[in-house]
Amino acid sequence: MDDSTPAGGFDKGLTSYGDAGFAAFLRKAFIKGAGYSDDALSRPVIGIVNTGSGYNPCHGNSATLIEAVKRGIMLAGGLPVDFPTISIHESFAHPTSMYLRNLMSMDTEEMIRAQPMDAVVLIGGCDKTVPAQLMGAASAGIPAVQLVTGPMLTGSHRGQRVGACTDCRRFWGNFRAGEIDEPELNRVNDQLVASVGTCSVMGTASTMACVAEALGMMVPGGASAPAVTADRLRLAEKSGAVAVAMIAQKLTPEKIMTPHALENALRVLLAIGGSTNGLIHLTAIAGRLGIAIDLAAFDRMGRATPVLVDLKPSGAHYMEDFHRAGGLPAVLRELRPLLHLDALTVTGRTLGEELDATGPAFAQDIVRGRDRPIYAEGGVAVLRGNLAPGGAIIKQSAASATLLEHEGRAVVFENAGDLARRIDDPALDVTAGDVLVLKCIGPVGAPGMPEAGYIPIPKKLGRQGVKDMVRLSDGRISGTAMGTIVVHITPESAIGGPLAAVRTGDRIRLSVANRSLSLLVSDAEIAARLAAAGSTRANPVERGYRKLFLSSVTQADQGCDFDFLRAVATTASVPQSP
Ligand code: FES
Repeated sequence: MDDSTPAGGFDKGLTSYGDAGFAAFLRKAFIKGAGYSDDALSRPVIGIVNTGSGYNPCHGNSATLIEAVKRGIMLAGGLPVDFPTISIHESFAHPTSMYLRNLMSMDTEEMIRAQPMDAVVLIGGCDKTVPAQLMGAASAGIPAVQLVTGPMLTGSHRGQRVGACTDCRRFWGNFRAGEIDEPELNRVNDQLVASVGTCSVMGTASTMACVAEALGMMVPGGASAPAVTADRLRLAEKSGAVAVAMIAQKLTPEKIMTPHALENALRVLLAIGGSTNGLIHLTAIAGRLGIAIDLAAFDRMGRATPVLVDLKPSGAHYMEDFHRAGGLPAVLRELRPLLHLDALTVTGRTLGEELDATGPAFAQDIVRGRDRPIYAEGGVAVLRGNLAPGGAIIKQSAASATLLEHEGRAVVFENAGDLARRIDDPALDVTAGDVLVLKCIGPVGAPGMPEAGYIPIPKKLGRQGVKDMVRLSDGRISGTAMGTIVVHITPESAIGGPLAAVRTGDRIRLSVANRSLSLLVSDAEIAARLAAAGSTRANPVERGYRKLFLSSVTQADQGCDFDFLRAVATTASVPQSP
């Protein structure tokens, strides 16, 4: 090894024995035990993050993808080496997947740092995996390409097309309302997830795939191809080849995820009617790079960015349809005048150059033109007021138009357990015009900010035909959820945010037009109630990851990242453009 040049390939990041030559010799001996030749070991090394897991059907095609990525790497002259990290599936993570996102990001970052690789292909898909990988890669700082497993196929139930998980919620709501019986519920359960892959609507997984592509961290067109298609495998092969080429260009994540790229991603988040979780994750990713997301400026951007993609839950279609309609490049083409076309992508070309290469638009009815949007403004609006001094958000494109301006009586649940105990109690004093309030499901309170903000409609109201009510919490909602649901109320109730002061019977006013969320109680009374209540957090935790989580997690406006993982200094704020 020549000490004058930085080590690459298998000579990178040698184990500390106090003798670099011996460390390299030993490493080579071990890897040769796996049958590698000197020629193979002289190539640039591309790590492939393997998140395949029996607990993660959303990543059920990982093995096939890894083979295709390896093919791309070897065709480009590199040596692929796959390695495992944590894998997180939404339905198999207790207490909630968000609790583990930062752990996965640390695992990703540290294993990229610890093991010898010159570039890395990140294979993620399910909701928290892509943000965790982008956060980890941003901090690790070597060339990285995001590949997603791709969306699942849709199924069919009694002639009706169905897919996870907007339809999961709809059928469950129908069951609770007594509109379908248990045998039918079980039959539709067979059809909702028709193949491996991520949820088939514009939920968080699809949102983060589109966001990663808009950031430039994915090969163009990589967000939408279904998990079980040839297109998905070709994208995997290309991702491998691109990773090799990025090494010579020294194309590290901070050169791609610039303020301009983040603005593009925020614009896309709004235009696709993306999941509210996308904002938290983008905030966390940007925070790793010293870039702040200005919520007020994001809201102004939202007023100038229509929703163009007709996908559930904001619209009517599924990811398969989006792919056939051209996928994200079709959206980017429509948004072109609003984008920073100079932003670099993993291919080494700019977003503008990539768009020029996508070919002309064609007739389809999934991605609308800006002259006939699905929704005139962006999907997400930012609210403020005495209930949310640090902000709250609502996915207005998936809300009931009749409830966007609403004043009602609060019906308060102190935590998720209280909600579970009382929501279906026939004696619950609640009417359709009330505002359901759920406390203690924020980053600290739950902990992990679960997607429990989708408070069910009380059964007795559901059976009267009530489909939606104004619902508030300091938690999150799934990207697949519909309804007039305010989430991310900051600061959260468990750390003494004003939400903690709300009592059943108080009046609450929501005005999406004015971007306000108000508790109609005097400031003095709110302060007195908060002082009397103190922090609602129970016993301090003594050990383990939970202790680390509770002592380090930030609020939603900082992406719920751990404070010690964020960049030391903030050097920019986005978006700058309306
Ligand atoms: Fe994995 Fe929906 S549960 S993407």
